[in-house]
Amino acid sequence: MVKYIAEPFRIKSVEPLKMLTVEERKEKIKEAKYNLFGLKSEDVYIDLLTDSGTNAMSSQQWAGVMVGDESYAGASSYRHVIENAQEIFGYKYIQPVHQGRAAEKVLLPLLLHEGMFAISNMHFDTTRAHVEQTGARAIDCVVKEALDTTGYFDFKGNMDNVRLVKLIEEHGAKNIGVIIMTITNNSAGGQPVSVANIRETAAIAKKYGITFMIDAARYAENAFFVKQREPEFKNASIQDIIHEVFALADVFTMSSKKDAIVNMGGLIGVKENCELFEKVNGRCITLEGFVTYGGMSGRDLEALAIGLKEGINEDFLRYRIGQMQYLAGRLDEAGIAYQSPVGGHAVFVDAAKFLPHIPYYEFPAQALAVELYIEAGIRCCDIGSYMLGNDPDTKEQLKADFEFTRLAVPRRVYTQAHLDVIADALCAIKDRAPTIKGYKIVKEPPVLRHFTAELAPLE
Ligand code: F0G
Repeated sequence: MVKYIAEPFRIKSVEPLKMLTVEERKEKIKEAKYNLFGLKSEDVYIDLLTDSGTNAMSSQQWAGVMVGDESYAGASSYRHVIENAQEIFGYKYIQPVHQGRAAEKVLLPLLLHEGMFAISNMHFDTTRAHVEQTGARAIDCVVKEALDTTGYFDFKGNMDNVRLVKLIEEHGAKNIGVIIMTITNNSAGGQPVSVANIRETAAIAKKYGITFMIDAARYAENAFFVKQREPEFKNASIQDIIHEVFALADVFTMSSKKDAIVNMGGLIGVKENCELFEKVNGRCITLEGFVTYGGMSGRDLEALAIGLKEGINEDFLRYRIGQMQYLAGRLDEAGIAYQSPVGGHAVFVDAAKFLPHIPYYEFPAQALAVELYIEAGIRCCDIGSYMLGNDPDTKEQLKADFEFTRLAVPRRVYTQAHLDVIADALCAIKDRAPTIKGYKIVKEPPVLRHFTAELAPLE
């Protein structure tokens, strides 16, 4: 049994939750057309839809909200963000923006245009969308170990550097606008990337003269895994590991809604390229707002400045990763497969193994997500063929590499007992798994369909 690591905080403010009956939930999910995004949040008991922007802020952060400086220009809260981010990342230039995809929107068109390519260990959906909006193509290049959900590998998020070199040679270095390392690798299951791997990728980027970018959404969780699993860093501090990693890249984008433990915010970092940073500032002014607020209110900047520090605290990270390891341990006991070893922000249940009788085109991961809501009021999401969508040319349903039901855990929000409710619900569903049916889509928009599509259970 995996030991639960007790919270390194106590609770000062609580949000009551509503408990519905199974019958009531069956009605609610039917009304939502079997799309979890269509539910009212008050009809959810445990919300695992995302770990993004759903974090609980500390009393210090709430105090920061009150002293946030709302000045349009030169606000002290802006300077607090810059000082803390410069110290943590070791980068000369920092631009706040309102969230991760805003950072992508501002930066990526400066690196990419029609006919070019971005290569990443795995692009997050919005990163891919921003690459493609420039007319460039996004190529994922994760190690093959990631594809085997039950096989053990310390760093399933790693870049396949052999294939990376082949791709660069094939397309020509001048056509590769950026190499993106996503840490942790969300789409592969919140899987970490080793410093050894990042060093190799950085050396390749340097050799071919290609900009090397970090997608830093979960960089602190990644640093904790590095400390646990990479012998060279056994005695290093989280801060030292972060410096080591970021020194290898040229730029980063960050959704602060994850590891900076806030509800809104993002950053762009440029290590030393002043000319590039001036262009970032220019685009930020038109797209997000003046450089000293970048689409953020002063109170949110202040909370971000404080959250950046709290998010790299080692006791916090041990508890945080410990929550995933505890939940995963309960699934091990029940023989439920997930992307293993468990990653940093979520347990990615292997729905293809859980519901082997449901083919990808009947969306096993979505079917399991619906069952979790009916069983215990748990809301989570499909990261599989349902989310992937149709081939833009043939309109045929695409088959995803994984059929994951993602249980993303917000930071500092749920307790051990909540995690037990989740594990117990999965066990109960496992007992009746053969009776669970797949789904068909009755209505879908042309892009990012999983947010608004309407589904119906198959008979
Ligand atoms: N990069 C990664 C790796 C992400 O996981 C996300 C968001 C983004 C960029 C975009 O950031 O939401 O602030 O605009 N991931 C969330 C999730 C939405 O649920 O995994 P954003």
